Amino acid sequence: MKITVINGTQVKGCTYHIKEAFLDVLREGNTLREFTLPRDMPHFCTGCKTCFFQSETRCPHAQYVQPIWEAMLEADLLVLTSPVYALRTSGQMKALLDHLCVHWMVHRPQEQMFTKRAVILTNAIGVFNGGAQKDMATSLSWLGVSHIKKLGVGLMEGVIWQELSTRRREKIVRRAQRLAAGYRSFRPARMGLVVRCKFAITRLMHQTIAKKERPLSADNRYWLEKGWIKVPQSHK
Ligand SMILES: Cc1cc2nc3c(=O)[nH]c(=O)nc-3n(C[C@H](O)[C@H](O)[C@H](O)COP(=O)(O)O)c2cc1C
Repeated sequence: MKITVINGTQVKGCTYHIKEAFLDVLREGNTLREFTLPRDMPHFCTGCKTCFFQSETRCPHAQYVQPIWEAMLEADLLVLTSPVYALRTSGQMKALLDHLCVHWMVHRPQEQMFTKRAVILTNAIGVFNGGAQKDMATSLSWLGVSHIKKLGVGLMEGVIWQELSTRRREKIVRRAQRLAAGYRSFRPARMGLVVRCKFAITRLMHQTIAKKERPLSADNRYWLEKGWIKVPQSHK
């Protein structure tokens, strides 16, 4: 099984230790690829829209984004990690997710995403992990991933891993390892109802636009090439 990990922080702290506990269960027999943000993608989206109108390969940050996207496409399991910052995901994770909008269902989705499984690992000093998890889960779902599991840890005792009590650290490690155990064997996911609906609605949208607009947009051309929409002979 190929696992691609995207770390939403460079700090080797709580997020790192939770992720390591999760991966320890899966290292043997699997291929791991890790990216750490912002080191491996240190830019914000500039809003130039070149990805939408032309190609994602012309994004000013393609040299950073493309290797991550390709590793995501190759992976069987995606692992996204982030500390909770201001009740949301870290800015560096959001910056990467913004760069991936071009692959959202409404633009140019890749069918490899439909069978992937994903895990989101977050932690907060308090209990509120939901906002950060939603930031990542929303993107994953619009990228076409149906099978998404989340582990949100409320640290409660502090924000420095070494300063947490041994009991607390052990409990957190056990939770991460229990979750990882479910991924020991390779099992492709099935396209779920929500993703199916998103695909069906956007397909209809692209089909309608492609019948009317000329020249075809990059998105429409992509859907046409995939064979997901058809353009009447007279419109070609
Ligand atoms: C800038 C910043 C903002 C944070 N915001 C929150 C927050 O809104 N709620 C919360 O419970 N914890 C918050 N935390 C704590 C983090 O979620 C996390 O638990 C802590 O950074 C430990 O993880 P780390 O060692 O991987 O950095 C924040 C931490 C930082 C540095």
